[in-house]
Amino acid sequence: MRVDGQHYRTIWAAADGSGDVEIIDQTRLPFAFIVLRLTTVDEVAEAIRSMRVRGAPLIGAAAAWGLALAARDDPAQGALEEAGTLLLATRPTAINLRWALDDVMSVLLQLPAARRAEAAARRAAAICDEDVALCEAIGGHGLPLIADAWEAKGRHGRVNVLTHCNAGWLATVDWGTALAPVYKAHEQGIPVHVWADETRPRNQGAALTAWELGRHGVPHTVIVDNAGGHLMQHGLVDLVIVGTDRTTRTGDVCNKIGTYLKALAAKDCGVPFWVALPGPSIDWSLDDGLRIPIEQRDAGEVTRIGGRAGDGRVLDIQLTPDLTAARNDAFDVTPARLITGLITERGRCEASAEGLSVLYPATGAQVASPRATGE
Ligand code: MRU
Repeated sequence: MRVDGQHYRTIWAAADGSGDVEIIDQTRLPFAFIVLRLTTVDEVAEAIRSMRVRGAPLIGAAAAWGLALAARDDPAQGALEEAGTLLLATRPTAINLRWALDDVMSVLLQLPAARRAEAAARRAAAICDEDVALCEAIGGHGLPLIADAWEAKGRHGRVNVLTHCNAGWLATVDWGTALAPVYKAHEQGIPVHVWADETRPRNQGAALTAWELGRHGVPHTVIVDNAGGHLMQHGLVDLVIVGTDRTTRTGDVCNKIGTYLKALAAKDCGVPFWVALPGPSIDWSLDDGLRIPIEQRDAGEVTRIGGRAGDGRVLDIQLTPDLTAARNDAFDVTPARLITGLITERGRCEASAEGLSVLYPATGAQVASPRATGE
């Protein structure tokens, strides 16, 4: 997507051919656009843990690059396994992380040690390219939902899409998942407007979704997390599209905390609630979303908030009384029964085992990879 007219991905190999990797430091957005160079697997692990890179597909892509940097340092099997364990422990909910590590590791362990570093970098770059293709395809399959909403409104006004957290291009390598259909609609000249939930505690909606939509020229409005139900009751939301960090084979979806409440409100108001996901976000081993491990993050993310002061300084300030306890579950689960449908790179389907099995007939982590299916 574009940032002030220039095309960017969220992660890329350094242009000097050193094998280092570069990222946009998302902890600095929206107030500073900083590119960081990562040179070791430890730096990649830190970047994922501290959410310099975040969003399920991007976490997977970053982990793949982490293994590539580890292989450059020491391609022995033991060292690679240690690096994999380090990366896997960074964030527990997004299944893309495990998917990417398994994928790269399976390639590397078939090769002699001397060929592993180059192969790992090649595979990490390919995972990034594949993610772009998957997300663009999701955009294509989601576009008719927005186009149909525009026709249903008699081509009057605008199509209002509500989204939660950031499932845009910043959460992937490019395009995004939930926002890919929005970018496609915008490209086609459909007047689409996004309600961006602020998404406490880390405010990915207020900081990241608003930033990327703004830089790309897509109209949007930030709302507080509690506003979505009210807007739906008043007919101001045509459809909801969110992303997912892990989808069970039965269509339950685990996404940023607060997604479930939006799905309940959408159900009550008869607003279509769609979830956009690439195949590597599906956990074929699970049939109950409530068994997905939910990341518990630092309570300080709840008791404190960051922002820019009037004098331009970016500050981190306390919100709650001293010593007040806080709990910080990072994700929640939306049961399949509340979901209108899933938008994948292979098309749209019902959020159910039957629906997913039509799109992914031979289920298993490896079939979610376009490389493995030869797509
Ligand atoms: O904690 P984050 O910012 O990594 O959470 C991101 C989300 O919840 C996204 O909606 C999800 O990863 C889907 S991304 C395309």
